[in-house]
Amino acid sequence: MHIARTIPELREILNGRRRIAFVPTMGNLHDGHLSLVGKARSLGDLTVASIFVNRLQFLPHEDFDTYPRTWESDCEKLRAAGCDVLFAPDEKALYPEPQTCKVHPDPAIADILEGHFRPGFFIGVCTVVMKLFACVQPQVAVFGKKDYQQLMVVRHMVRQFALPIDVVGIETHRADDGLALSSRNGYLGKDERAEAVQLSLTLQSVAAAVREGERDVGAIEARAMASLAARGWKPDYVTVRRRSDLQAPVAGDPLVVLAAARLGNTRLIDNLEFD
Ligand code: PAJ
Repeated sequence: MHIARTIPELREILNGRRRIAFVPTMGNLHDGHLSLVGKARSLGDLTVASIFVNRLQFLPHEDFDTYPRTWESDCEKLRAAGCDVLFAPDEKALYPEPQTCKVHPDPAIADILEGHFRPGFFIGVCTVVMKLFACVQPQVAVFGKKDYQQLMVVRHMVRQFALPIDVVGIETHRADDGLALSSRNGYLGKDERAEAVQLSLTLQSVAAAVREGERDVGAIEARAMASLAARGWKPDYVTVRRRSDLQAPVAGDPLVVLAAARLGNTRLIDNLEFD
């Protein structure tokens, strides 16, 4: 596996390569990330991953400084997963000057849900993803459905800027008990880790209630938030949306239920598509 630390190094390695499949990450890799790498391998003839903890997508009070950085084991996992090239710039290499030119995604999809609770988050995500796309120039980019809204915002950006990139979404990889794998799960204490499964169970119970024909979706959502709160969670949202644009659904729309909630100091997100 080649490791590029700067944009010129990366360009030299990638020069002339035809079908590049790209997996952007912030490191602290787990099996969810590696399933993206596996998919990328099947879609291109050169697999490129990036590791970059992107300051632009963290609010000042968030966990940028403490975000887990596990360089050695990340490299080992990527090598074992068959990644060809790892792009791992430091901040100076990716942002040699303050990144004042930013991508502002459509507020209709970027200022709701995660964007509402983490203002500016998707500006940070889109700006770094656009820049990484410019560096790697992939034909395919693989993202996880775990970050459902991120996938949607990135797809929309790619379409609106006519970037010649296929954006592929991959199912969420879960632990045996159903907890969606996440780098932030490492923040959970033992008891919190046992409790964390409630988030995916909540999504399943919301989906079941809607499927069973309960009409008042607002009441289902409120009940789900209240039962998380009663167990000590601080939910930001549990909400049923239509998959196409994450707006309120009308009858017949394919649906997704999305949730974000804090357990202790750890903010977890998850989602579940259902019909
Ligand atoms: P990060 O949280 O490291 O996630 C990198 C990619 O892995 C994202 O596409 C995410 O959706 C996917 N992923 C995370 N957990 C997953 C799981 N359990 N199953 C399947 N896929 C999973 O998302 C980011 O980094 C950043 O916002 C980034 C796009 C790299 C821009 O900085």
